[in-house]
Amino acid sequence: MLAGCEQRMRDMYEQPRYDPGESSTLWPDGKAGRPPVAGTVAWAAGDLAATSSGRRGTDIPRDVDRAEQAAALPPLTPALLARGRERYGIYCLPCHGAVGDGDGPVVRRGFPRPPSYHQERLRTAPDRHFYDVISQGFGVMKPYADRVTPQDRWAITAYVRALQLSQHAPFDRLPPRLQARIGVASAPEGGS
Ligand code: HEC
Repeated sequence: MLAGCEQRMRDMYEQPRYDPGESSTLWPDGKAGRPPVAGTVAWAAGDLAATSSGRRGTDIPRDVDRAEQAAALPPLTPALLARGRERYGIYCLPCHGAVGDGDGPVVRRGFPRPPSYHQERLRTAPDRHFYDVISQGFGVMKPYADRVTPQDRWAITAYVRALQLSQHAPFDRLPPRLQARIGVASAPEGGS
């Protein structure tokens, strides 16, 4: 009986249909496929856009491999950080919040609160930890590997590092202008 089911399944795979480029008597131009509406602009986005087979990553293996094997951030550029900021806003901010302290809008509506990126353990965690959490998930946080490409995981990691620095900048790494201002502001207390 089960064998019979399998046979029927196969029959469903082999239904009558038109393949790309096939002809048909249904339309005056004799083609099964319909031409795009006038003014249509061909456009593709996402990590399958550059592939011809439609199989994820098979046509862009070099960049993906490099990103997947890297242990630390790629060279920092304004473009990488901008991309990371944009992707963070889409995929992480809803829970982790704009500054990364774990009070995003989804959390305010009852989702478990993630830890703040500004705690010592995550400040000193290796870059790769963030990449791995995005790829594999962590505890109740789901993995984002199917939505965030390897390159974008590094871009997000770079942006998270920038967020961490924004909340915990060592004095000697501040630009001189800010150092001077803080020095003046804390002077009345005899500050350090
Ligand atoms: C739907 C909510 C949600 C989203 C979206 C989300 N996270 Fe999380 N994240 C969590 C929660 C909750 C935890 C704590 C999980 C636990 O400890 O069980 C967490 C934990 C983490 C941790 C800490 C892991 C550790 O060592 O404690 C990192 C880093 C992290 N997330 C990064 C990210 C990044 C980067 C993104 C975006 C790609 C993201 N998360 C998207 C909810 C989310």
